[in-house]
Amino acid sequence: HTKYTAFPPVQITDRQWPGRTIDKPPVWMSTDLRDGNQALFEPMNVDKKMRMFKMLCDIGFKQIEVAFPSASETEFGFVRSLIEDGHIPDDVTIEVLTQAREHLIRRTFESLKGARKAIVHVYNATCPTFRETVFNMSKAEVVAMATDAVRLIRSLADEMPETEITLEYSPELFTATELDFAKEVCDAVTEVWGATPQRKVILNLPTTVEIATPNIYADQIEWMHRNLARRDSVIISLHPHNDRGTAVAAAELGLMAGADRVEGCLFGNGERTGNVDLVTLALNMYTQGVHPGLDFSDINAVARTFEHCSQLPIHPRHPYVGDLVFTAFSGSHQDAIKKGFSAQKADEQWAVPYLPIDPADVGRSYDSVIRVNSQSGKGGIAYLMETEYGVVMPRRLQVEFSGVVQRYTDQHGGEVSADDIWNIFNQTYLEGGSTVRYR
Ligand code: KIV
Ligand code: ZN
Repeated sequence: HTKYTAFPPVQITDRQWPGRTIDKPPVWMSTDLRDGNQALFEPMNVDKKMRMFKMLCDIGFKQIEVAFPSASETEFGFVRSLIEDGHIPDDVTIEVLTQAREHLIRRTFESLKGARKAIVHVYNATCPTFRETVFNMSKAEVVAMATDAVRLIRSLADEMPETEITLEYSPELFTATELDFAKEVCDAVTEVWGATPQRKVILNLPTTVEIATPNIYADQIEWMHRNLARRDSVIISLHPHNDRGTAVAAAELGLMAGADRVEGCLFGNGERTGNVDLVTLALNMYTQGVHPGLDFSDINAVARTFEHCSQLPIHPRHPYVGDLVFTAFSGSHQDAIKKGFSAQKADEQWAVPYLPIDPADVGRSYDSVIRVNSQSGKGGIAYLMETEYGVVMPRRLQVEFSGVVQRYTDQHGGEVSADDIWNIFNQTYLEGGSTVRYR
């Protein structure tokens, strides 16, 4: 990104207290190759995983969860080829997931041999439904399961001094877990790992299944932020899922509530309704004047690779990337956009109405911004005539000609292209219906 444009952040002037905002990007972690991959009809093969991994590195992710190595030979093999074939850039840390079980943890460490650094992500279920219905475990047994796993990870990490291991721990269904119990488990893990401000533990607090409004998640995060025994030795990580459609809001509020890090997937891929969409989250920050530190300057290329690897289409109205999101259909919008483009100075803050971001900042063009249908007014038509055919119409002609186009769309229905408009103009005003184009 070289160019930086954004609407000015909204100023709250009528309140006694300042509204909270996000003033710096979080540590980003892409779990496209793990949480995203496990939710596909056809999980990615090694070639597709490699292609996705390279793209995630190019976008600027420094932490990438690449696999659940103890789950399958494909997953294990992918971690091995990343390490053995030297695909991991120096500034990127791979992350691997494991359940808190001894043989799975040992297998996970085998997959990491020869890596320079790695995050080992261990999880167990802590919430009452899982304790009581699924595993029949007491709270003490749940704490012991987590701390035994961390003790083992610590000793395996000591046996592998050539690999710098960071611990990540997730209490599963954090949002459904009693807060004081979540704190108890997290504090115990922090203690057993021997976390210090120089060697922090990542405590990842997932919604797993989104069950409440996003402010509730933020309140839970804030409570942990204020009450963890060793906050200075902990990185608080968010892992929102999108069951209620509010994962982006949950992540934004969670960051304002004190979190340091966010895990999610491109375009909201992931289990069920998906993980939080990292593209929307990052570009939302961009529009508020905070550079996310991720490069989406060619979002179409990212979308194409994503669709190829995941076999999932991106919705045409998906924020920032959908085919229709920089398209105005209504006349008043077109008119305002046209005036905005004329007034916009290249080096000034972006201020074109109805477009929250300069499409060029994500590699999109203005070509499809103006389309004309029966709802369009004179502004859009005049804009197309000027930009496509170099014909600057006086205002009275704009009014008259928009009536002609309106009658045409009323008769023929649907949308008219720039070429249709040009032909109508020719037939109406130029002798003999000339098809010569004036530029
Ligand atoms: O959603 C979840 O809880 C997870 C854990 C493994 C972190 O993906
Ligand atoms: Zn998840």
